[in-house]
Amino acid sequence: MIEVRSLHKRFGDHTALKDVDLDVARGEVVVVIGPSGSGKSTLCRCLNRLETPDSGVIRFDGADLPAEGRALARLRADVGMVFQSFNLFQHKTVLENLTLAPTRVRGTSRAEAERNARELLDRVGIGEQADKLPAQLSGGQQQRAAIARALAMRPKAMLFDEPTSALDPEMVGEVLDVMTGLARDGMTMVVVTHEMGFARQVADRVVFMADGEVVETGEPSAFFDSPPRTGPGTSWPRSSATSGTAVILRRAGHGAPPEKG
Ligand SMILES: Nc1ncnc2c1ncn2[C@@H]1O[C@H](COP(=O)(O)OP(=O)(O)OP(=O)(O)O)[C@@H](O)[C@H]1O
Ligand SMILES: [Mg+2]
Repeated sequence: MIEVRSLHKRFGDHTALKDVDLDVARGEVVVVIGPSGSGKSTLCRCLNRLETPDSGVIRFDGADLPAEGRALARLRADVGMVFQSFNLFQHKTVLENLTLAPTRVRGTSRAEAERNARELLDRVGIGEQADKLPAQLSGGQQQRAAIARALAMRPKAMLFDEPTSALDPEMVGEVLDVMTGLARDGMTMVVVTHEMGFARQVADRVVFMADGEVVETGEPSAFFDSPPRTGPGTSWPRSSATSGTAVILRRAGHGAPPEKG
């Protein structure tokens, strides 16, 4: 579904992506991990052309990624993106946030867009929040609304760039649960995250980036073969997630991960 070959991206004299190859099959969940500044966001942004690569090939669903124009707009509609900051339209209700693009870009009727939107809001567990403004929702609810908004376009694939890292810890689980449900339903997903529990349980493949390169890729079990279990819970606490990254960093021949800044 997504094919990346020899992707290069520079910002001035800084090379953010060096010769990156990546394949994501239909229905596959690929988790991208790596230290700050390793190029994870840049890769995501290149995948739907929020950033223009300097060289390399990106193919989506068998076709080269369009550079501009209508074809690019269509691609953006086919690839849903969810960011760390929820990016909801603050002056519109949650329901309106979900119906805007389908009615304007897809030409869906208002009635159908609303029906679909309410269904999606129910699916992410915030059906009762439909008529509120984003500011009246908690962070976790806003991020679930942002996921529902992306899904309202019926995308073929979803990109998540650290969707839980701006959330209070108690709200991380509810967002990861929605993403896990999506993955189980067969959505093709690329997920940049520090949530190692999610990576271990949901990813088909983990890609580890450092200094703009993919330095290791493999099944989660290979990355997390002896995870530090601290209790009966399903996800690791943040401290364990960090040490998990450190193990991989050592294996990949890099030093300790820099502090997140
Ligand atoms: N628009 C830009 N202009 C200049 N440099 C940039 C730009 N975007 C990213 N960079 C640089 O490219 C490198 C990769 O950045 P990127 O945001 O992709 O890293 P990241 O892996 O997502 O990091 P983090 O975990 O902190 O989000 C960094 O050194 C960053 O400073
Ligand atoms: Mg980033």
